[in-house]
Order: sequence, then C-alpha cells, then structure tokens
Amino acid sequence: PSDIVFQHLIVHKAAQLKEKPNKADGTVLKFGAHTTDHMLQIVWKEELGWMPPKIVPLEPLSLHPCAQVLHYATECFEGMKAYKDKEGRIRLFRPDMHMNRLARSVARLALPSFDKEALLRCIEELLRVERDWISDVEGFSVYIRPTVIATQPSLGVQQSREALLFVVLSPAGSSFFSALSTSRLAPIKLRVDTQNTRAFPGGAGDRKLGSNYAPTIVPLLEAAKLGCSQPLFVMDDKYGGFVGEAGTMNIFFLLRSGQDTLELVTPALDGTILPGVTRDSVLKLATKIQGLEVSERSLRFSEIEAAAGQGRLVEAFGTGTACLIQPVSGLLKESGVMIEVPFDSKAANDAVAAAPGSLELEKEHVNRPGFNLCG
Ligand code: COI
Repeated sequence: PSDIVFQHLIVHKAAQLKEKPNKADGTVLKFGAHTTDHMLQIVWKEELGWMPPKIVPLEPLSLHPCAQVLHYATECFEGMKAYKDKEGRIRLFRPDMHMNRLARSVARLALPSFDKEALLRCIEELLRVERDWISDVEGFSVYIRPTVIATQPSLGVQQSREALLFVVLSPAGSSFFSALSTSRLAPIKLRVDTQNTRAFPGGAGDRKLGSNYAPTIVPLLEAAKLGCSQPLFVMDDKYGGFVGEAGTMNIFFLLRSGQDTLELVTPALDGTILPGVTRDSVLKLATKIQGLEVSERSLRFSEIEAAAGQGRLVEAFGTGTACLIQPVSGLLKESGVMIEVPFDSKAANDAVAAAPGSLELEKEHVNRPGFNLCG
C-alpha cells in the first residue's frame, strides 16, 4: 500500500470565498471560531494505503454512525501555526516537531503511519491556496489543525482498517483566553485542582489525543465559576502532589534560588506531560540567559507554595501553540486562598516588543525556511 504522495495532490477550489476578517483594524478573533475556505483530506484504507490527497472546499464530513472515532475517541491532532514574514513569505513554526508529535500520537492509537515530509508539503499547498487568510499584522497567524480519525464502521474495540487525515485552518488573533484583551500579555489566574487528574504514569498524557482534552472541560468550568481561566492540574498528595499542566498549557515557574540566581522550572517529560513545541522553544531560549538555571524536573505544588511564602516565586506562565506565552498572576487553592504571583506587565510587554528570542529561534535550526507565495 502506498504512502502519502504529494505529487498526487488534487486541488478543487471553492466557487465562493468567505469574507476575510478585517486585519487592519486589529479585529480580535476568538480562538477556533473561524475557518478558512478549504481543507485537506487524505483517506487511508488498509488494503490500499493512503489515497491521493485532496484540497477541497471546507465541508462537513460524512461518517458511518459506527465509525470507531465516534465510540472510542480514536482521534489525535496537532496545533501548529503559520505566519507571514516581512517579505510576505509564509513561515511555519517548527513544523518538523509537530509532524513528529503527530506520528507519535498516531502510533499510540494504532492509526496508520504517514510520510511526514509529504504531509507537510500538502499542508504548505493548503496554505498557499489560503494565503489571503494569513495576515501579516503583528500577532495574527493561521492555526493549523491536522487531525487523524478512525473511520472504520465497527463497534468492536480494535485497530481501525480505515482512517481519515484532514487539516483545517483557523485564523487566530493575538489573544487566546480573553477576546476583550487588548494587551498581548494579560495575566490569568489558575485554579489549583487536585481532584481531577489529566494524566497518570503509563497513560497517554504525552500524546495529543482528543480523549485527553474532553475530561478537562468540567475542571475548566469549575475553574471559571471561581473566576479562573484554567485549572492547574496537581496530583493529589497521596500520589505525590506533583504539578502537571495548566489546562491546555505547559506550566513554568520562575523561582529565586539564591541571592543572584533564578531557576526556571517546568515539569519533566515523564509520560504525563505533553511535549509542547512552545515549551521546548522556551527551554532552548532560556538556557541562553546568564544566571538562569533551567530545569525540567518533577515539581511538587508544596514547593511552589513554600517559594511563594518565602517571596521566591518570581513569575509563572503557561505555554502552548494556541496561547503562546500566557502569564499567570494567581493560583487559587482549593481552600480558597489565592497565592499571588508577581507579574510585571511593563517589563513583559517590553520584552515581547523587543522579541529577540523569536528572531534568534528563527535564525537557528528550528524554523522551516519560509516558502514563497507564488512558488
Ligand atoms: C494548542 O496550544 O495548540 C492546543 O492544543 C490547545 C488547544 C487544545 C486549544
């Protein structure tokens, strides 16, 4: 059976195009609420392999009611972003990392493996077709959502003999959590949650499966009721009291470790933590900062609490492709006590404006070369 073959790509353009969001007036786009005009679809069948990829007008999918994905959540996805650079070329942020992660998610669900380079070339072609959706206004991007689902109609829990890989695009603004925020870096509060666990050792918390996200909606609603934007998953003390993730984000804490030293710490990739691409970028950049010790290690919430009590909790932030870097200004404990986290708004926003980090990343090994709109 054949793998994905970029040269077999078929493009069928929509007769009518939707109106694009008005980029120039700084329109705030609610995350995930808009889609572009086209999608990529690639069907897989056990006996034939991957069928020719197709770019078609975005359309509802037709699935058998017994399709495995509808019963056993046999689904995984990626979230990656495309930007336009100053020369008008489209740039993908660390797409190789996203393709590798998708391959690991697919493997965990016994879905078919795929040629990562061929899929990337198909995604690039989709972005070319949708180039008018990619704004060059600072802070705007197109969020790319590659998804793989098991489509075989069967109520047995088994490896699927049919699958569909599709990619949709969603124009994204600069603010993830607050549609009203005009500041690029408005801090949020997290609700410490020891009652709901996102992932256990030996589970699949390190893969990007839809089934990791659905059970986080109730904790999210509970957090929202208490005025917090996301839960901070912390294992119950009987399981060690370890810090996990902050809703859909990886979490970082900046701790004062000595008179002139700081430690930037995030939970280690122990199988319960999603290997975030933004997480990895922050770690790579942070190692270049003098006087900053960068640690990936297991982290008990009691340690954060103690650091806060001693005035050593300097900063906290979440990272993710969708949210980028999300400062945190408070951790609401289940007792109702709020642990205040310092946030220097001016320093943070000045740092973003200067953005040496992103340039450095771009220059080095992590970005796929921009590709030309007309190419
Ligand atoms: C991302 O940051 O890309 C995510 O996966 C978050 C998403 C589930 C909203």
